[in-house]
Amino acid sequence: MSGAPAAIEDMPQGTHGGTLGDWLSAAVRGLEAAGIETARLDARLLASFVLGWNPARVLAHPEQVLGGEWSRLQSLLARRANREPLAVIIGKREFWGLDFAVTADTLVPRPESETLIEAALAATEDRDADLSILDLGTGSGCLLLALLSELPNARGLGVDLSAAALKVAAGNAAILGLEGRAEFRQSDWGRGLDGTEGRFDLILANPPYVADDEFAALEPEVSRFEPRLALSGGPDGLTSYRSLAPQIGPLLAPGGGAFIETGAAQAGAVSALFEENGLAVTSIHADLCGRLRVVEVQQVMDK
Ligand SMILES: C[S@@+](CC[C@H](N)C(=O)[O-])C[C@H]1O[C@@H](n2cnc3c(N)ncnc32)[C@H](O)[C@@H]1O
Repeated sequence: MSGAPAAIEDMPQGTHGGTLGDWLSAAVRGLEAAGIETARLDARLLASFVLGWNPARVLAHPEQVLGGEWSRLQSLLARRANREPLAVIIGKREFWGLDFAVTADTLVPRPESETLIEAALAATEDRDADLSILDLGTGSGCLLLALLSELPNARGLGVDLSAAALKVAAGNAAILGLEGRAEFRQSDWGRGLDGTEGRFDLILANPPYVADDEFAALEPEVSRFEPRLALSGGPDGLTSYRSLAPQIGPLLAPGGGAFIETGAAQAGAVSALFEENGLAVTSIHADLCGRLRVVEVQQVMDK
C-alpha cells in the first residue's frame, strides 16, 4: 500500500483487523490525511459497498467484527486515498434517481447535468409523444437514458467517439430496461450520422469544456482519473462547441430543441457560436447553484 497516507499504512493489514467501528474511524483519518473533504461519507460508502449493507446499517453496527472484508476494505481505501473517484471504485453513480454503471472510460455523471434533463422535459409539451432524441457525447448514457425513463414512447440514439464508453452506455440501457428504445453508435459528434435516422425532436449534448490552462486547478479525481476525451475542450474550452454548432441545425426536426451544457462561464460564448450558425437561442438555464449551465436552441422559424 505504498504511497498511502501514514494513517492508512498504520492500520492492521490482516484479514481480521477489528470491528467495523475501528475500520471506519481509521479510514476517516486516512482519507482526511489524503485531503478528501468527504472522508466520513466516503468511508461509510466504501463499507456499505463491501458489506452489501445500506449506509444506515453501517453506522448502526460499529461492533460488527470484520473478517475477510477488512483486507478488501483496505485495498479500496488505498485507491480512494490515491484520489481515485469513489464512483469509479464502487462502479456506479446515481443520476436523475437512477443508478448508472461508470468505469475509467466514462465521465462520472454530474448533478449539474440534471439541468439538461429538467430543461428538455420542461420544453416537452406531450410526454407520451413518439419523440426522437439524440445524445451527442453520451458517455455512460446518463442523459439519454434519464430522458427515456421520463418519456415512455420516445426512442433515442447516443453517440460517442469512445467505443469503451459506448459499451458502458449500452450496459446501462440494459440494466435500466431501456435497451429496446436506446441505440448507441460510434461517431465523431454528428458526422457519422448518415441521415437515415431522420431528424431529432430533442438533442442533448454535454461536450468536454475544460480549457487547457484550467487542468492544473482541477481536483485530482478529475484530472488524474477521468478520461481526457471527456474533459478537454482545447485551448479556450470551446473546441467541441465549434464542431457542434454547425451540425445541430440540420439534425433538428422542425419545432425541435437542442440543449447544450456549458462550463460555468461559457454560456455567452456558446450562445454566440450557435447564433452565428443560424440558430435561435431561446433560453439559458441555470443549475441549482445559479450558474448559467444549459443553452437551449431552436431553428429560426421562417416568418
Ligand atoms: C463531458 S463528457 C459527457 C458524458 C455524458 N454525456 C455525461 O453528461 O455525463 C463528454 C463526452 O463526449 C465524448 N466525446 C468527446 N469528443 C467527442 C467527439 N468528437 N465525438 C463524439 N463524442 C465525443 C467523450 O468521450 C465523453 O463521453
